[in-house]
Amino acid sequence: MYGIELLVEEHNNVLFFTDILRKVSALIVEGKEVEVAFLRECVDFGRDYSENQHHGKEEKILFQHMLDKLGPVAEKLIRTGMLVEHDLGRYYMAKLLEATDKYETDKSMEVKLDIICHATGYADLLRRHIDKENTVVYTFAERMLSDEDKEMINKETEEFEKEASENNIQVKYTTWLKEAANKLSL
Ligand SMILES: [Fe+2]
Ligand SMILES: [Fe+2]
Repeated sequence: MYGIELLVEEHNNVLFFTDILRKVSALIVEGKEVEVAFLRECVDFGRDYSENQHHGKEEKILFQHMLDKLGPVAEKLIRTGMLVEHDLGRYYMAKLLEATDKYETDKSMEVKLDIICHATGYADLLRRHIDKENTVVYTFAERMLSDEDKEMINKETEEFEKEASENNIQVKYTTWLKEAANKLSL
């Protein structure tokens, strides 16, 4: 089903982003200089790709259909699980940006620790979140949604992607991932 296959494909990009966040954190632990500009690019990816592009599509399309049609099990999975974790992801990105800003005037170990804590916290959260979606949430949706609902989800996803491609989102961020991988030798 296109609407879910695309989300799984995006998960692979977000998982690669978590490798980047952990590598950047490991370099700081090893004593390398903190690259403020690159950390800002990471926050941009976290916000614009993971949050707006990926979570946006889940929240506006797939999860919305699941909430409308699949009753209390979906309600519990989504409202008290997935959406809470999306919020926590937003918190980590806001705190990572805050610590990055602070680092420009305060290069203390304390601030470095904040950067590492929020970057690796985000990575850990998203890895666990993606595993739950791939193995439980999406499979539940595939099993339980009607063909008609799946059709609607595919159609709405196509519309969402049309707009994203007009804004060059997928190309912009997959290119950034490749450049970041080269930079960090990943
Ligand atoms: Fe999600
Ligand atoms: Fe997801």
